[in-house]
Amino acid sequence: MSQPARLVVLVSGSGTNLQALLDATADPAYGARIVAVGADREDIEGLARAERAGVPTFVRRVSDFETREGWDAALTTVVDRFEPDVVVSAGFMKLLSQEFLDRHLTLNTHPALCPAFPGMHGPRDALEHGVKVTGATLFVVDAGVDTGPIVAQVPVPVEEDDDVASLHERIKTAERAMLVDAVGRIAREGISVEGRRVRIGAVAR
Ligand code: GAR
Repeated sequence: MSQPARLVVLVSGSGTNLQALLDATADPAYGARIVAVGADREDIEGLARAERAGVPTFVRRVSDFETREGWDAALTTVVDRFEPDVVVSAGFMKLLSQEFLDRHLTLNTHPALCPAFPGMHGPRDALEHGVKVTGATLFVVDAGVDTGPIVAQVPVPVEEDDDVASLHERIKTAERAMLVDAVGRIAREGISVEGRRVRIGAVAR
């Protein structure tokens, strides 16, 4: 891994996880810097956060391409250009192609305790199921939907009066701390992935 590690962060929305990483990377001791922020749509707060921090941005919209494969290739090409050590998908609401994943170690953060409640509505599905504890998961992206090897998890209790918004907000607070901690340790100590076993700063046995 380069030192500081080079991060490309992908976003689709408000970008509070991105902001947590931007804040952390302001300290050189963190061991990583964000070399670019990419999005699949314009006019989102995530891009504005990157611009305010002086980080280069790019947008690749699926609707600007004739095929999904064309978009996949364009996204891979632009991310390649920034030579990231790690790509962080932080609220990026698109699946990435196998070619992209073969080229880039890609982490995704999900607002549920995987393998429970994959997909776009982790907090809603957890609430509807009636679980008492949910949380957030950082994982290495693979070909499935929120199925990849798990890097870190954090539990969050469900409160009796929670609705989807209040639960998701509490998950996001824990999720940001988990993301910042894990990405920093990966940047400083390295990561090994063997099958489903992920270790930070150690060779998997
Ligand atoms: C985060 O909670 C992230 O885990 C979730 O979207 C939110 C983005 O927040 N992602 C998914 O649900 C993907 N399945 P942010 O834009 O404020 O970082």
